[in-house]
This record gives sequence, structure tokens and C-alpha cells, in this order.
Amino acid sequence: MPTDKPTARELTSETAPRSQDRIRPRSEALRVSVQSGSAQNYRGDVLAVGVFSDGTLSTAAKAIDKAGKGKLSAVLQRGDLQDKAGSSLVLHDAPGTSAARLLLVSAGRRDQFGERAFRAALEGTAKTLATGVAHDAAVALTDVEVPGRSLAWHVQHATRLLADGAYHFDPPTSTNGHPRAASAEATARKGQEYGARAIDLIVPKVTPELENAARRGEAIAEGMALARDLGNLPGNICNPPYLAATARALGREFGFDVEVLERDDMESLGMGAALAVGRASAQPCKFIVMHYKRGGMSKPIVLVGKGVTFDSGGISLKPGANMDEMKFDMCGAAAVFGAIKVVARLGLPLNVVAIVPAVENMPGGDAARPGDVVRSMSGQTIEILNTDAEGRLILADALTYAERFEPSCVIDVATLTGACVIALGNVASGLLANDDELANELLRSGEETGDRAWRLPMFDEYQDQLKSNFADMSNLGGRPAGTITAGCFLGRFARGYKWAHLDIAGTNALSGDAKGATGRPVPLLSEFLINRASRAGRGTA
Ligand code: BES
Ligand code: MN
Ligand code: ZN
Repeated sequence: MPTDKPTARELTSETAPRSQDRIRPRSEALRVSVQSGSAQNYRGDVLAVGVFSDGTLSTAAKAIDKAGKGKLSAVLQRGDLQDKAGSSLVLHDAPGTSAARLLLVSAGRRDQFGERAFRAALEGTAKTLATGVAHDAAVALTDVEVPGRSLAWHVQHATRLLADGAYHFDPPTSTNGHPRAASAEATARKGQEYGARAIDLIVPKVTPELENAARRGEAIAEGMALARDLGNLPGNICNPPYLAATARALGREFGFDVEVLERDDMESLGMGAALAVGRASAQPCKFIVMHYKRGGMSKPIVLVGKGVTFDSGGISLKPGANMDEMKFDMCGAAAVFGAIKVVARLGLPLNVVAIVPAVENMPGGDAARPGDVVRSMSGQTIEILNTDAEGRLILADALTYAERFEPSCVIDVATLTGACVIALGNVASGLLANDDELANELLRSGEETGDRAWRLPMFDEYQDQLKSNFADMSNLGGRPAGTITAGCFLGRFARGYKWAHLDIAGTNALSGDAKGATGRPVPLLSEFLINRASRAGRGTA
């Protein structure tokens, strides 16, 4: 069985994961495959079809209605199915179909139907299938068509949404071993009493193009599951050594090289900014570099992920409320892990270097203090005015390190600023870039996947906010335009290559009842990489 997670032997730290802690994302257990044939002949546990709230039926629903002599329309007229896209109704032993259950899924109002409703319908379906007793399911929903989108798009996105919708984080419980995360083996032994294991996605005709689309969707969901697992794991388990071990395990599974620079290596390289952040933690800093090489002589795409495994704020300590959510401060790193897993799983013909500076930001007798001046790897000095603006410090050195790969572009992903949550909420990630073409490519990838980003300007005027009396710059830009000044800070280290920065502080995780990592922006990054790979295949990269 392929595993994602490290074995204890590779780890040096006391709190490093044991082999029992291996996570097997649940989406790996769920197979989605495209199948042709008529929905009404499906004989499995459950068949999902789409209907609109005005009573209009999808092609599949129409066929069932006809075979069942209008019974389906009659049931719908009673009004039990709610209008909202994604709501659903289960009919048992419905006429016109051989499936044991017919799941009617609302696609919302026909005149308002678009990508959002398509996603809602698939998400609703996924939720029902993930919690139901049915093991074999068929989904005939690619026939509720989003105008302007290809059938392959529908298949890729339906697959991804179904597989991601089945994601389930196994928290450590009294029955599965405290305080570690549950083992996949334990879950398997217990037997999975609920949730679909295999989903047939019904299409008019199975073609290699549609099979590939499903494969892409499945791979993206797998990458998201890895990102979500890493994000959801607590800071006492998912620490810098854990991330390093995860990288090594991924490299072993997929056959790519992984380098882990230790504190001494970082010191020799002059990474004074990154080291200042991790200094007071009992956990050692790890500077992780993954090398995926399937792109021949082409210049690599470099991904950089902020890997602050817990952000207490350091001496500029954060307020206590919701501080637990700062375990999500490595979600940029998690997304980069997820993206390289997608690339490797699909065997994309690209060169990708993924860099994760992994540190824990803690207060302590040895911690960096406000007012400290550090020298970054680039030679530029930084006055640390606030130790809670730590992400940009570790990214600064990672961006300088990226220069050595002569990249075709560098994309960093980071839960960087609370200001981004205020500006864009949990709907769009912030995007800043020094290159319009790259920025537009990323915006398009966001649109394609529904994992959207929104660009903010990097006007020169904003640079003034980073002035320091005691160093080349300060790490604090003040409250106005906090996301932009953070981006401007990073831009000073992203010299000599095309660069874009995704601020995912609002999109990486949800709070409240739905607290948990979202796996964003793995879909956006994957789409970008898949598009780059197909461009390379056509010889235009
Ligand atoms: N990790 C935080 C940003 C963050 C805040 C992410 C809320 C997710 C939700 C980052 O390290 C941070 O603390 N940023 C400070 C910067 C400030 C001190 C300039 C912030 O946004 O308050
Ligand atoms: Mn911080
Ligand atoms: Zn942070």
C-alpha cells in the first residue's frame, strides 16, 4: 500500500509522527470513474440525477420519468424537494430506474443556473453520498450543463467535487489513540459503515479525453486531501520535522528528490530572516526543497509555501481568542505539497521545484524581539518591528534561494495577512505579482476551477510604508493596505524572475462550526500547472 507519511526511523524529533500516524486521505479510497450507458439502467445502490426548481428535468431525469410513466414529475410537483441548488431528496424503489435509491438533486432555478449552482449540486450530492449507507453510486449530473463549459470541464470538476466532498479528517479520539491522529489501518479495521466507495460518473460516451478529465479531478482532490490533512493536524504533531518527513515520504512514493536543509545549512546560506522566526521554538527549523523533474531542459516552475506550523505571534504575542487557528499557518506549505502531489500523480511533463521554509513562531528567551535587525540571504537588512509579521521573513529567504533555479516563474502561497481576510473574505485569495501575464494566467486558473483569486496593485507609493530608520526596510507596513505592503515586502526579494504571490489567509481554512482546512488553493495551482504542462506538450512553453 503506498503511504504518504513518514516512518519513525526518518525522524529525529520526539514529537515526530510515528508510523501509526500515517494519514491516508479518504479520497484515495473513493474511486470515481466515467461510465457510459443510460442512467435508468444503473443497478447499484444509488443513482443521482438533476432537476431544476421549476420542475424542468435533466436528460437523465427525463429518461427515468418517461420509463416510470411520469411518476417522477408527479413526485416533484408535491414540492418536497427544496429549490436551493444542492438540496436533495431520496426516493426508494422509484419507478423507471433499477437503482435501489434515486437521489434527486436540485440544480436550483433554471434561469440562474451556472457554475455556482453546478458546484452546489455536486457538493450536495457528495455530502449525501459521503454520509449515506450506499456503497456503489452513479452520478448523472454532467448533463446539467454550464453554458460555455466543455464536457471535459464538467467531468473534471464533478470528479473533483465528489472526491473532495468525501474528505473526512479522522481526529484523534479515545478509541483510536490519543493524542495522535487516527491511523488509516484502524479505520479500515473498524470497517467503513458509511459513504460511497465507488462512483460512476455517467457520460454519453467514454472517451480518453473524459477519462483523463476524471483522472485530473481525482488527482486534484487527492492533493487537496493531503493539504487538508496537513492543515487540520494540530501544531504538536504537524511541526517542521513532520513536514520534512512528509516531503521525504512523497519523494519516495513518486520518485523525486527531496533535500532538507538544517539550521546549520541555513546559517551558512545567510538566511538570517528565516532563522529569526524559528529561533525560540523547541522544534528545529527545516528548509525543505522538493525537485520534480519530468520537463527535460525547460526552466522550472518554483512553488514556495509558507510553513509556519504554529504562529503564536512570537514576542508580539497574538491575543488568545482563536489562536488555535494559527495551526493553519502552514497551509501555504500544505497547498504546495498538494500541488506537487497532483503533478507527480499525473506525471506532468514539467520541472517543478517546491520550497517550504518550515518553522514554528514562538516566544521565548531566545526569540527575536521587536527592534531586532537581521540580515536576509539577499544581503538586505530588516528591522523586525513586529515578530507576528513572520511569514514575510521566512518567505524572503525562500524567494532569494529560488533564484538559483533560474525559474520560469515563482509562485509563493502564504497565509500572510489578516488584512486579506478583511479585504476578500473567504471567497477569493489575494494575488500580487510583478508580471501581468503570470498574474492573468493564475486568475484564469482560479476562474476555471472556482478557486478564485483577485489581484491587488503594487504601486510604488506603497513601498514608503516599509521604511526603517535602522535597516534597509522594516517588516511592518502598518494597517492601511496590509496585504499590499506585505506583497511589496516580498517583491523586494523576488528579483530577477517572474513572480506571483497568493495570500490565502482567508481561503485556506474555515472557522466556526465548519472549522477546518479547505485544501485551497490546490485547485488553482493544479489547473495552472496542468495548463503549463499541456502548453509544454505543444512545444510553446
Ligand atoms: N499568519 C498571520 C496572518 C493571518 C491572520 C492568517 C489571520 C490567517 C488569519 C500572519 O503571520 C500575521 O500575523 N500577520 C499580521 C501582520 C501584521 C503584524 C503586520 C496580521 O495580519 O495581523
Ligand atoms: Mn504572524
Ligand atoms: Zn503567520
